[in-house]
Amino acid sequence: MHNVITKDIAHCQQLLKDNQLVAVPTETVYGLAANAFDTDAVNQIFEMKGRPHFNPLIVHIHDTGQLKDLAKDIPEEALKLAKAFWPGSLTLILPKQATVPDIITAGKPTVGVRMPNHPMTLELLKGLPFPLAAPSANPFTRVSPTSAEHVANYFGTRIPAILDGGPCQVGLESTIVGFDGNTPVVYRKGGISIESIENVVGKVTVLTENDTAPQAPGMLLKHYSPSTPLIISDDIQQSLITHNNKRIGVLSFYSDDFSGAEIIKVLSPSKNLDEVARVLFATLHELDTLHLDLIIAERFPEEGLGSSINDRLRRAQN
Ligand code: TXA
Ligand code: MG
Repeated sequence: MHNVITKDIAHCQQLLKDNQLVAVPTETVYGLAANAFDTDAVNQIFEMKGRPHFNPLIVHIHDTGQLKDLAKDIPEEALKLAKAFWPGSLTLILPKQATVPDIITAGKPTVGVRMPNHPMTLELLKGLPFPLAAPSANPFTRVSPTSAEHVANYFGTRIPAILDGGPCQVGLESTIVGFDGNTPVVYRKGGISIESIENVVGKVTVLTENDTAPQAPGMLLKHYSPSTPLIISDDIQQSLITHNNKRIGVLSFYSDDFSGAEIIKVLSPSKNLDEVARVLFATLHELDTLHLDLIIAERFPEEGLGSSINDRLRRAQN
């Protein structure tokens, strides 16, 4: 089933030129990519994911010079952020050029653009005469994939190729920043912390899920879900006692000193939130194969990537 996994970039370029889908590695999560300017190819992405058409896609580029083909009236602050973080885990929401197909933007006047930081996907993009539209390569509402195997487990051979770039080094989706005039607005917390963004452009507005639901449908409250029920806890041992008749998997920050769990996954013994981000989704995928009754996840400190990690865990609750 895994024979679609490949390291052959030229083969993937050919498939994309033929308007077929290819799953591609990025530093955040794997994407399900197609020629952004071919409506039929992009439509296949929606079909494959079971994604509603009101949810717009991010367009991936390899050179800031491509921005002018996609966006116009680009705010000064956007260029500053692109300069600081690209290639990297930042998506900019910008006024779109008329030539960007409506299927990409869900009919909105804006387009999301990002330059991913993965050498294989940058090389892939450089050999293509078009940018790539790519959402995360998971079925709608499920946990994003951070390895080629995760993608293969979701879609098997229904995707013509999965470009294998190893495990994702950031492990959380990009931070999405739009603009209210020249003022940056964060629509999705992600792989670049709010603190890092504020170091470049000063104070930003961060919209909560309720505020952003109509703006960025990917911020829908139920998202990123494992099939196993998940709860967030401030006191793991107490939660284990409360649910003592269940088979429980624990997602812990740095301690394994709990009793009553079937399995304990320690995400970063050295208490490093970047490391937690890198392994979080892979750990959720792994726990999901164990048919547990419940996952109890520790609440992380609301600083740096901890805030993005808590955001994903809140949406994974079910
Ligand atoms: O890290 C990432 O961003 C990954 C990799 C593959 O690049 N992609 C990703 O795509 O997470 P996706 O489709 O799973 O999430 C994209 C989010 C959605 O919440 C969508 O609503 C939002 O971006 N988005 C895209 N274009 C938008 C626009 N014009 N206005 C508002 N939100 C937009
Ligand atoms: Mg997604």
